[in-house]
Amino acid sequence: MSDITTIEKEALASVEAAADLAALEQVRVAELGKKGRVSGLMSSLGKMSPEERKENGPKLNALKTRVDAAIRARKETLEAAALEAQLASETVDLSLPPKAGPVAGALHPVMQVFEEIAAVFGDMGFTVAEGPDIEDDWHNFTALNFPEGHPARETHDTFFMHALEGDEAKVLRTHTSPVQIRTMMSQKPPIRILVPGRVYRNDWDATHTPMFHQVEGLVIEKNIHMGHLKGCLIDFVKAFFEVDNVEARFRPHFFPFTEPSAEMDVKYTRKGETIEIGAGDSWMEILGSGMVHPNVLRNCGIDPNEYQGFAFGMGVDRLAMLKYGMPDLRPYFEADPQWTRHYGFAPWSTPSVSGGLS
Ligand code: DAH
Repeated sequence: MSDITTIEKEALASVEAAADLAALEQVRVAELGKKGRVSGLMSSLGKMSPEERKENGPKLNALKTRVDAAIRARKETLEAAALEAQLASETVDLSLPPKAGPVAGALHPVMQVFEEIAAVFGDMGFTVAEGPDIEDDWHNFTALNFPEGHPARETHDTFFMHALEGDEAKVLRTHTSPVQIRTMMSQKPPIRILVPGRVYRNDWDATHTPMFHQVEGLVIEKNIHMGHLKGCLIDFVKAFFEVDNVEARFRPHFFPFTEPSAEMDVKYTRKGETIEIGAGDSWMEILGSGMVHPNVLRNCGIDPNEYQGFAFGMGVDRLAMLKYGMPDLRPYFEADPQWTRHYGFAPWSTPSVSGGLS
């Protein structure tokens, strides 16, 4: 066993000489692996006489321990060096300009369309207002002139929350209209607000998702009439779809909170896969609107003899689909980065009417 010292010297020297982790692994296998040199010596203990074993056992064990310790220490050093090298090669130059075009973290088309709609109405003097997603029955229905037990309440497929003790059950708002109420309760006319927001209904198929997006508008001023409503909404459609002319019709409809109420249809044509808004042979419904019902004004402490107003509400997801040619609603909510990169927008390009919406 005179060669223990030699073996140790050689083994430690090759550990030190290992230039990278792969070379070190080769040394480990050659010395401590199943068929390694040190392992070979260890197994030779079995063939020794008890006296020899007593003498050589501790020496061999010590050899194995020292070689093992040297390999571990070298491994740590090499790993630290490898990390240093990787960090050095991956430095980011923060002074470089951002990559052009949509990148990961692109703005979702719905958020882009929110911005665009706000830019168009912002130009007409509207300001953005918001309200809570969790509403009470009074703001979501009663104050908006939905009578108790009226069938219009059923059409909303409301999500009801569990009631807290001693409280009435809250609802997830089924439309952005309750923000009309909150605004009229807290602000004096004249009022011109635009309300982008999430709304919720228990519905799920190719064209409906349980959460979707609406934009609500409300104008309360003196001497407001249906002509203002029409002019405002036709101007909006022209600006939003970036067309010079739009043929529109206002078709009588029913909403509890407006009287008279109308749905706005615009003419469109289909050109292959895409839809062009403004002219053509077919009508497409794009929003609901009407003159604010006197009961709604009274519920908010506004005298209907002094003030009138108009309101409108539209589904933003479908407007985004129409404008940007997205065929299916469901991928909107699947958070697929490839879809977002394809349909998304650069987050820093704020839309404006004068500078271009999209
Ligand atoms: N709240 C209606 C809905 O979700 C949309 C709507 C229609 C809002 C007419 C309005 C309006 O403000 O005047 O179906």
